[in-house]
Amino acid sequence: MFLIPKSNLKNFDPVRCCFVLNEFATAEFSSAVEMLFAAKNINDQKLSEGFIRHALDEYKHCTIFTNIKNKIILEYKINKKKLSFVPNHIYNKGYIYKDHFIFEKKKINNFAIFIGANEEIAEKKLITFANYLKKHKPFAFKEVEKILKDEERHAKYSLEFAKNNNGFLSYKIKVIRERILSFFRHIYANSLNKFSFIFNPILITILIIINLVTYFLNLKKNTSDDDVMKNIEPKSIT
Ligand SMILES: [Fe+2]
Ligand SMILES: [Fe+2]
Repeated sequence: MFLIPKSNLKNFDPVRCCFVLNEFATAEFSSAVEMLFAAKNINDQKLSEGFIRHALDEYKHCTIFTNIKNKIILEYKINKKKLSFVPNHIYNKGYIYKDHFIFEKKKINNFAIFIGANEEIAEKKLITFANYLKKHKPFAFKEVEKILKDEERHAKYSLEFAKNNNGFLSYKIKVIRERILSFFRHIYANSLNKFSFIFNPILITILIIINLVTYFLNLKKNTSDDDVMKNIEPKSIT
Protein backbone atom coordinates (compact mmCIF):
# COMPACT_ATOMS: atom_id res chain seq x y z
CA MET A 1 0.00 0.00 0.00
CA PHE A 2 1.70 3.22 -1.10
CA LEU A 3 -0.73 6.07 -0.85
CA ILE A 4 -3.75 6.07 1.38
CA PRO A 5 -6.23 8.74 2.43
CA LYS A 6 -6.53 10.57 5.70
CA SER A 7 -8.95 8.70 7.92
CA ASN A 8 -9.32 10.62 11.20
CA LEU A 9 -13.12 10.47 11.37
CA LYS A 10 -14.83 11.07 14.71
CA ASN A 11 -18.57 10.48 14.48
CA PHE A 12 -19.84 7.68 12.30
CA ASP A 13 -20.65 9.04 8.89
CA PRO A 14 -21.56 6.07 6.66
CA VAL A 15 -21.02 7.91 3.35
CA ARG A 16 -17.67 9.33 4.40
CA CYS A 17 -16.67 5.93 5.79
CA CYS A 18 -17.53 4.26 2.47
CA PHE A 19 -15.57 6.93 0.62
CA VAL A 20 -12.49 6.20 2.75
CA LEU A 21 -12.97 2.44 2.29
CA ASN A 22 -13.17 2.96 -1.45
CA GLU A 23 -9.91 4.94 -1.39
CA PHE A 24 -8.24 2.22 0.66
CA ALA A 25 -9.45 -0.41 -1.82
CA THR A 26 -8.09 1.66 -4.73
CA ALA A 27 -4.71 2.05 -3.00
CA GLU A 28 -4.52 -1.70 -2.35
CA PHE A 29 -5.43 -2.52 -5.95
CA SER A 30 -2.77 -0.11 -7.23
CA SER A 31 -0.20 -1.63 -4.92
CA ALA A 32 -1.02 -5.07 -6.29
CA VAL A 33 -0.52 -3.85 -9.86
CA GLU A 34 2.90 -2.37 -8.94
CA MET A 35 3.88 -5.67 -7.33
CA LEU A 36 2.82 -7.69 -10.36
CA PHE A 37 4.92 -5.45 -12.58
CA ALA A 38 7.90 -5.98 -10.27
CA ALA A 39 7.31 -9.76 -10.24
CA LYS A 40 7.27 -9.85 -14.01
CA ASN A 41 10.39 -7.75 -14.46
CA ILE A 42 12.76 -8.88 -11.72
CA ASN A 43 15.45 -11.33 -12.74
CA ASP A 44 15.31 -13.42 -9.61
CA GLN A 45 12.82 -16.22 -9.09
CA LYS A 46 12.70 -15.99 -5.29
CA LEU A 47 12.06 -12.25 -5.34
CA SER A 48 9.53 -12.68 -8.12
CA GLU A 49 7.58 -15.19 -6.02
CA GLY A 50 7.75 -12.77 -3.07
CA PHE A 51 6.30 -9.97 -5.21
CA ILE A 52 3.51 -12.28 -6.41
CA ARG A 53 2.62 -13.22 -2.81
CA HIS A 54 2.64 -9.53 -1.95
CA ALA A 55 0.37 -8.76 -4.93
CA LEU A 56 -2.08 -11.50 -3.87
CA ASP A 57 -2.22 -10.02 -0.35
CA GLU A 58 -2.96 -6.56 -1.76
CA TYR A 59 -5.75 -7.90 -4.01
CA LYS A 60 -7.18 -9.66 -0.93
CA HIS A 61 -7.05 -6.38 1.02
CA CYS A 62 -8.84 -4.62 -1.83
CA THR A 63 -11.62 -7.25 -1.67
CA ILE A 64 -11.90 -6.96 2.13
CA PHE A 65 -12.28 -3.16 2.00
CA THR A 66 -14.79 -3.43 -0.87
CA ASN A 67 -16.87 -6.02 1.02
CA ILE A 68 -17.00 -3.84 4.15
CA LYS A 69 -17.99 -0.87 2.00
CA ASN A 70 -20.75 -2.86 0.29
CA LYS A 71 -22.16 -4.03 3.64
CA ILE A 72 -22.35 -0.43 4.90
CA ILE A 73 -23.90 0.71 1.60
CA LEU A 74 -26.59 -1.96 2.00
CA GLU A 75 -27.18 -1.23 5.69
CA TYR A 76 -27.59 2.52 5.22
CA LYS A 77 -29.18 2.32 1.76
CA ILE A 78 -26.57 4.68 0.30
CA ASN A 79 -26.58 5.65 -3.34
CA LYS A 80 -23.45 3.81 -4.37
CA LYS A 81 -22.75 5.51 -7.71
CA LYS A 82 -20.08 7.83 -6.30
CA LEU A 83 -18.66 5.07 -4.17
CA SER A 84 -17.89 2.58 -6.91
CA PHE A 85 -14.40 1.48 -7.75
CA VAL A 86 -13.41 3.28 -10.96
CA PRO A 87 -10.25 1.84 -12.59
CA ASN A 88 -9.24 5.25 -14.02
CA HIS A 89 -8.94 6.63 -10.50
CA ILE A 90 -5.74 4.69 -9.94
CA TYR A 91 -4.15 7.13 -12.44
CA ASN A 92 -6.22 10.24 -11.83
CA LYS A 93 -5.72 10.16 -8.09
CA GLY A 94 -2.01 9.46 -8.39
CA TYR A 95 -1.94 5.93 -6.99
CA ILE A 96 -0.13 4.79 -10.15
CA TYR A 97 1.90 7.01 -12.44
CA LYS A 98 0.60 7.26 -15.99
CA ASP A 99 3.97 6.91 -17.70
CA HIS A 100 5.95 4.49 -15.54
CA PHE A 101 5.95 2.01 -12.68
CA ILE A 102 7.96 2.83 -9.55
CA PHE A 103 9.95 -0.38 -10.03
CA GLU A 104 11.29 0.96 -13.35
CA LYS A 105 12.76 4.06 -11.70
CA LYS A 106 14.44 2.44 -8.71
CA LYS A 107 17.17 -0.11 -8.15
CA ILE A 108 15.89 -3.17 -6.28
CA ASN A 109 17.64 -2.07 -3.04
CA ASN A 110 15.90 1.30 -3.15
CA PHE A 111 12.61 -0.24 -4.26
CA ALA A 112 12.67 -2.45 -1.15
CA ILE A 113 13.23 0.62 1.05
CA PHE A 114 10.42 2.44 -0.73
CA ILE A 115 8.01 -0.46 -0.09
CA GLY A 116 9.13 -0.99 3.50
CA ALA A 117 8.90 2.67 4.51
CA ASN A 118 5.54 3.16 2.80
CA GLU A 119 4.06 -0.04 4.23
CA GLU A 120 5.00 1.21 7.70
CA ILE A 121 3.31 4.57 7.09
CA ALA A 122 0.25 2.88 5.58
CA GLU A 123 0.04 0.57 8.58
CA LYS A 124 0.01 3.53 10.99
CA LYS A 125 -2.76 5.23 9.03
CA LEU A 126 -4.75 2.02 8.90
CA ILE A 127 -4.45 1.60 12.69
CA THR A 128 -6.23 4.98 13.13
CA PHE A 129 -9.00 3.88 10.77
CA ALA A 130 -9.21 0.43 12.41
CA ASN A 131 -9.76 2.05 15.83
CA TYR A 132 -12.52 4.15 14.33
CA LEU A 133 -14.17 1.00 12.93
CA LYS A 134 -13.73 -0.81 16.25
CA LYS A 135 -15.97 1.80 17.87
CA HIS A 136 -18.64 1.91 15.18
CA LYS A 137 -18.47 -1.30 13.12
CA PRO A 138 -16.85 -4.15 15.11
CA PHE A 139 -17.42 -6.69 12.29
CA ALA A 140 -15.22 -4.57 10.02
CA PHE A 141 -12.53 -4.15 12.66
CA LYS A 142 -11.86 -7.91 12.73
CA GLU A 143 -11.34 -7.93 8.97
CA VAL A 144 -9.06 -4.90 9.03
CA GLU A 145 -6.98 -6.55 11.76
CA LYS A 146 -6.09 -9.29 9.25
CA ILE A 147 -4.90 -6.62 6.81
CA LEU A 148 -2.78 -4.98 9.50
CA LYS A 149 -0.96 -8.26 10.15
CA ASP A 150 -0.16 -8.59 6.44
CA GLU A 151 1.06 -4.98 6.19
CA GLU A 152 3.32 -5.49 9.18
CA ARG A 153 4.82 -8.53 7.47
CA HIS A 154 5.26 -6.66 4.16
CA ALA A 155 7.15 -3.84 5.89
CA LYS A 156 9.30 -6.28 7.86
CA TYR A 157 10.33 -8.39 4.84
CA SER A 158 11.03 -5.39 2.62
CA LEU A 159 13.10 -3.58 5.22
CA GLU A 160 15.01 -6.76 6.12
CA PHE A 161 15.91 -7.24 2.47
CA ALA A 162 16.92 -3.58 2.20
CA LYS A 163 19.04 -3.80 5.37
CA ASN A 164 20.94 -6.79 3.99
CA ASN A 165 21.55 -5.14 0.63
CA ASN A 166 22.48 -1.60 1.69
CA GLY A 167 25.29 -0.35 3.89
CA PHE A 168 24.19 0.57 7.46
CA LEU A 169 24.45 4.34 6.98
CA SER A 170 23.05 4.34 3.46
CA TYR A 171 20.07 2.25 4.70
CA LYS A 172 19.33 4.72 7.50
CA ILE A 173 19.58 7.77 5.22
CA LYS A 174 17.41 6.22 2.51
CA VAL A 175 14.70 5.16 5.00
CA ILE A 176 14.55 8.69 6.47
CA ARG A 177 14.44 10.17 2.96
CA GLU A 178 11.61 7.81 1.94
CA ARG A 179 9.62 8.64 5.10
CA ILE A 180 9.93 12.38 4.43
CA LEU A 181 8.93 11.99 0.76
CA SER A 182 6.00 9.80 1.67
CA PHE A 183 4.89 12.33 4.31
CA PHE A 184 4.73 15.07 1.65
CA ARG A 185 3.03 12.77 -0.89
CA HIS A 186 0.27 12.06 1.62
CA ILE A 187 -0.09 15.74 2.49
CA TYR A 188 -0.43 16.52 -1.22
CA ALA A 189 -2.99 13.73 -1.76
CA ASN A 190 -5.04 14.77 1.27
CA SER A 191 -4.96 18.42 0.20
CA LEU A 192 -6.36 17.80 -3.29
CA ASN A 193 -9.96 17.83 -2.05
CA LYS A 194 -9.38 20.79 0.26
CA PHE A 195 -7.97 22.98 -2.50
CA SER A 196 -10.46 21.93 -5.16
CA PHE A 197 -12.72 24.81 -3.99
CA ILE A 198 -10.00 27.21 -5.20
CA PHE A 199 -8.98 25.45 -8.40
CA ASN A 200 -12.40 24.31 -9.64
CA PRO A 201 -13.84 27.89 -10.00
CA ILE A 202 -10.63 28.97 -11.78
CA LEU A 203 -10.95 26.03 -14.18
CA ILE A 204 -14.64 26.74 -14.82
CA THR A 205 -13.87 30.47 -15.46
CA ILE A 206 -11.16 29.54 -18.00
CA LEU A 207 -13.59 27.19 -19.77
CA ILE A 208 -16.27 29.91 -19.93
CA ILE A 209 -13.75 32.44 -21.34
CA ILE A 210 -12.59 29.96 -24.00
CA ASN A 211 -16.23 29.27 -24.85
CA LEU A 212 -17.01 33.00 -25.17
CA VAL A 213 -13.94 33.63 -27.34
CA THR A 214 -14.90 30.83 -29.73
CA TYR A 215 -18.51 32.12 -29.80
CA PHE A 216 -17.48 35.66 -30.82
CA LEU A 217 -14.70 34.53 -33.14
CA ASN A 218 -15.87 35.86 -36.48
CA LEU A 219 -14.85 33.31 -39.05
CA LYS A 220 -15.17 34.59 -42.63
CA LYS A 221 -16.87 32.06 -44.83
CA ASN A 222 -17.09 31.26 -48.49
CA THR A 223 -20.82 30.64 -48.44
CA SER A 224 -21.03 28.53 -51.58
CA ASP A 225 -22.37 25.43 -49.77
CA ASP A 226 -23.00 24.01 -46.25
CA ASP A 227 -19.62 22.31 -45.71
CA VAL A 228 -18.45 24.32 -42.66
CA MET A 229 -14.81 23.16 -42.68
CA LYS A 230 -14.40 23.79 -46.39
CA ASN A 231 -16.00 27.24 -46.16
CA ILE A 232 -13.81 28.67 -43.41
CA GLU A 233 -11.28 31.15 -44.79
CA PRO A 234 -7.95 29.89 -43.30
CA LYS A 235 -6.58 33.46 -42.93
CA SER A 236 -9.48 34.45 -40.69
CA ILE A 237 -8.25 32.13 -37.95
CA THR A 238 -4.75 33.65 -37.75
FE1 LIG B 1 -2.28 -3.94 1.67
FE1 LIG C 1 1.07 -4.12 1.81
